[in-house]
Amino acid sequence: MKQNILITGANGQLGQSLQRVYAQTQTEKYTLYSTDVDTLDITDCKALENYIINNKIDSIVNSAAYTAVEKAETEEEKAYLINEQAVVNLAAIAKKRNLFLIHISTDYVFDGTSRVPYTPEMPINPISVYGKSKAAGEKAILDQQIRSAIIRTSWLYSPYGGNFVKTMVRLGKERESLQVVNDQIGAPTYGADLAEVIFAILGECNSFSGPEIYHYANEGVISWYDFAKEIMRLTQLDCQVTPISSAAYPAKVQRPAYSVFDLSKIQKRFNLHIPTWTESLEKAMPEILSNTR
Ligand SMILES: NC(=O)c1ccc[n+]([C@@H]2O[C@H](COP(=O)([O-])OP(=O)(O)OC[C@H]3O[C@@H](n4cnc5c(N)ncnc54)[C@H](OP(=O)(O)O)[C@@H]3O)[C@@H](O)[C@H]2O)c1
Repeated sequence: MKQNILITGANGQLGQSLQRVYAQTQTEKYTLYSTDVDTLDITDCKALENYIINNKIDSIVNSAAYTAVEKAETEEEKAYLINEQAVVNLAAIAKKRNLFLIHISTDYVFDGTSRVPYTPEMPINPISVYGKSKAAGEKAILDQQIRSAIIRTSWLYSPYGGNFVKTMVRLGKERESLQVVNDQIGAPTYGADLAEVIFAILGECNSFSGPEIYHYANEGVISWYDFAKEIMRLTQLDCQVTPISSAAYPAKVQRPAYSVFDLSKIQKRFNLHIPTWTESLEKAMPEILSNTR
């Protein structure tokens, strides 16, 4: 029998990537209920529960979030409402109705001071309001001990919404040169790759008895500068990229300097082939180019 899957935040980068992968490969297995704040506001507990009951939802993928990292510093209440309180609601309903929940979190729960790749078990220490609000969302799920996967991801990009790749393509067309930080290290994640992993985990939902935390990004370790250089190379844009330090780049919020994940837990548990960041960027680029003016 087909499972009914609720997608929250379906108009966002990951939400749209999930709908795309679903339409291409998953329609036989699942019926997708794609919602966003205009159709289902996850901060509205009653509406959430009614929606879940009315549509006989079996599993939830929470791709809704407050993701404005800089704005969060002055919109703390809103960030916590969506990234913590709404997750408290989701977790409580999932527990009451025995639903499986996939929740997306971030490398920003770490402070970026590690010198070895972060495993899911390493202690968190967020340094921004956004990171703290996402950490509070994780705690809401862990407190309820529900059947769930918390997937931390990093540097997400896709053909949808706003992201670093689309910004670089736009700036690459407009400018002759660009400075990009080379002292923040991590790995990009292509939305479609993460969406495929989410469907793989949904397929294993019966093997979960409580919360499990995973790290997922594309394979490889780079700086934002390396990423920008490869974007210009692939697009053949004639824009000179030069490296600068974070200290020289004025920012309202401190970002983790080191966001490298150890991917072995998710790779082994779900027997994944994790594409390298270059492979995925190359695959993603044609559609990103056609979606970027
Ligand atoms: N983007 C990254 O680089 C990155 C990196 C690491 C982790 N993550 C995590 O990955 C997940 C997906 O990120 P994303 O880039 O796809 O985010 P996104 O593009 O900002 O999408 C989030 C979606 O959630 C919606 N939303 C906001 N408040 C809501 C509410 N109360 N009820 C229902 N929907 C609501 C947003 O609508 P509005 O646009 O109208 O607000 C938006 O459509 C998030 O959990 C994020 O924290 C992202």
